[in-house]
Amino acid sequence: MKVSPGLTLALLAQVAAAAPGPAQNSTYYNPVLPGWHSDPSCVHVDGIFYCVTSTFISFPGLPIYASRDLINWKHVSHVWNRESQLPGYSWATVAQQHGMYAATIRYRAGTFYVICEYLGVAGKDAGVLFRTTNPFDDAAWSDALTFPVDKIDPDLFWDDEEDNNNNINNSTRNTNTTDENKAYVATQGIQLQELDLTTGAITRPTSLWNGTGGVWPEGPHLYKKDGYYYLLIAEGGTALDHSITMARLHRLTQRSAPEPAPANPVLTNRGTDSYFQTVGHGDLFQDGAGNWWGMALATRSGPAYKSYPMGREAVLFPVTWRTGEWPVMQPVRGRMSGWPLPPRSRDVPGSGPFNGDPDVYDFPVGEPLPRNLVHWRVPRPGTFTVTEKGLAVVLGRNDLTGWPNDGDPEEGGRAVSFVGRRQTHSLFRFGVDLDFAPREAGQEAGVVAFLTQAAHVQLGVVMGEEGKLSFRFNGTSPDGEATLSEVPAAWAGKPVRLEIEMAEEPTEYTFSAMLAADEGSRVVVGKASAELLSGGSGSFVGTLLGIYATCNGAGSGVDCPSGTPKAYFRRWRYTGIAQYISADEKIPSIVDSLGQEET
Ligand SMILES: *[C@@H]1O[C@H](CO)[C@@H](O)[C@H](O)[C@H]1NC(C)=O
Ligand SMILES: *[C@@H]1O[C@H](CO)[C@@H](O)[C@H](O)[C@H]1NC(C)=O
Ligand SMILES: *[C@@H]1O[C@H](CO)[C@@H](O)[C@H](O)[C@H]1NC(C)=O
Ligand SMILES: *[C@@H]1O[C@H](CO)[C@@H](O)[C@H](O)[C@H]1NC(C)=O
Ligand SMILES: *[C@@H]1O[C@H](CO)[C@@H](O)[C@H](O)[C@H]1NC(C)=O
Ligand SMILES: *[C@@H]1O[C@H](CO)[C@@H](O)[C@H](O)[C@H]1NC(C)=O
Repeated sequence: MKVSPGLTLALLAQVAAAAPGPAQNSTYYNPVLPGWHSDPSCVHVDGIFYCVTSTFISFPGLPIYASRDLINWKHVSHVWNRESQLPGYSWATVAQQHGMYAATIRYRAGTFYVICEYLGVAGKDAGVLFRTTNPFDDAAWSDALTFPVDKIDPDLFWDDEEDNNNNINNSTRNTNTTDENKAYVATQGIQLQELDLTTGAITRPTSLWNGTGGVWPEGPHLYKKDGYYYLLIAEGGTALDHSITMARLHRLTQRSAPEPAPANPVLTNRGTDSYFQTVGHGDLFQDGAGNWWGMALATRSGPAYKSYPMGREAVLFPVTWRTGEWPVMQPVRGRMSGWPLPPRSRDVPGSGPFNGDPDVYDFPVGEPLPRNLVHWRVPRPGTFTVTEKGLAVVLGRNDLTGWPNDGDPEEGGRAVSFVGRRQTHSLFRFGVDLDFAPREAGQEAGVVAFLTQAAHVQLGVVMGEEGKLSFRFNGTSPDGEATLSEVPAAWAGKPVRLEIEMAEEPTEYTFSAMLAADEGSRVVVGKASAELLSGGSGSFVGTLLGIYATCNGAGSGVDCPSGTPKAYFRRWRYTGIAQYISADEKIPSIVDSLGQEET
């Protein structure tokens, strides 16, 4: 057979391109950790990458995601998973975006450390340091060592960390490196302090760098490489002007003048028309092959920055960092190409769902709530119990806004009965079956797309004054006013399926109801713009999809009247449909035969 030489070459080129080989660069999609995952900080230990993200008032807080391939992220624990680790803080937190700010995760000599600042309890703002030797077990995370710190975003850095090229400039070596119990903590500002990891004693802050002039120099991380201390920070605020800038110093202790990177900002999407905006607040790490990567936050809003209900998500970018030079970071887009990724693998220890996976939860008796379900502050003991009839929820006296106890942080905080999971896909379907027999006016239970107590769209079944059941939906009017519509009389006493979905466009939620036993009875109760759940009172957080139950202020203190029936939820389902990777391009969310999500 005669084949033209040109065609042969083309075929050969195709074969070469398809052949797997260590030298092949990879292609992947951002965000790798979709849904509300702000301020990622990551480490690589023995073939597994670990990231922590900020959680503010939600609880359990500070999730740990583990991955072997940087694409499949398994939710293996929460650093803050027991109220007793930091007693008295959660319920006393007033503002919607206070709580656990941005954390740093680091590993040293068999121990993982997560350092953070808890903000928002009058007179008690505290630096918090947690540690564990087993990040796959909630219970193994220590109580918080608290320390006084007046700035957010603590970093954790031991000065004896050898750079990868083993090329430490001897004259910069701190001679006191053998003290295992001391580490440097850089914070917003950028300030530097030395923390005693045993006692929480901390030295007075000194100024390390003021950044390049953008507002809010914060989110610092220190790296020692090629004889320099490299300082990476976020600048410009966490909205459209966000960026990463860097400086380096010869010495940390007897401060040398910071030398800013000539290419600052070294990473930003400021002033671009990219779908991915607000890129900043990142951390750098190396993979097993020695290649550098970074994770940062980004918002899929486009420059219009109006509709982004998932808030700030975590994106991965390749970094080229040659000896003695500044790191070069690849701009963040939806479709990325860079260093070869480690082979795809879901072989990650521990239990917990992968971030992009569907929820198929039937709440078997004896099992704890699935790990990706979170509350707004620590729930009152006994509010959520798994029973033969499903997940039983004690009605909160407060509605989702915190009323009538919103003036009292303790009572406003703990009398809200809510649990939800992150919206992790641009297009998705979420639904749950509700079995609820309210007896008094105001008793209500339902589903909610929740950003904050001041911004949420809820579809509930509520008992009216006249003893009739209504749907209450509050996404139609921008001032949050609710509309009531009658529940069909034939549905009385039967389980109802309530659904929230975005099936067509990532800009509008559809809320519907049907008899659990008859999908044909489906009625669309209302539609709500995703702009209601973008920014505003929730500019640091992102939408949670979940359930709530309230008696709307009946009773006293934090309790509904005795005899108030519980609401029972069953058949909790969440399915991702698609991810938008640019304003007009979406990729389907398909879980392949390995269970890997194709995103
Ligand atoms: C650093 O100092 C040690 C002795 O303290 C010496 O053995 C080593 O060669 C020095 N390394 C460099 C790169 O100068
Ligand atoms: C080492 O620690 C000692 C005691 O804490 C201190 O006096 C000394 O200044 C430190 N040296 C350096 C180089 O930091
Ligand atoms: C940062 O600014 C403050 C206030 O102007 C100043 O005191 C401090 O020395 C500056 N820090 C550095 C490292 O230049
Ligand atoms: C090592 O440190 C000295 C003193 O701070 C400095 O002059 C020199 O440039 C440094 N060398 C490197 C490679 O960082
Ligand atoms: C592979 O990716 C790295 C990191 O992004 C980049 O520096 C390098 O140029 C890429 N190589 C090729 C052949 O594209
Ligand atoms: C829904 O209603 C509550 C008040 O009940 C309000 O706080 C919330 O903002 C409303 N949601 C929207 C999107 O208007």
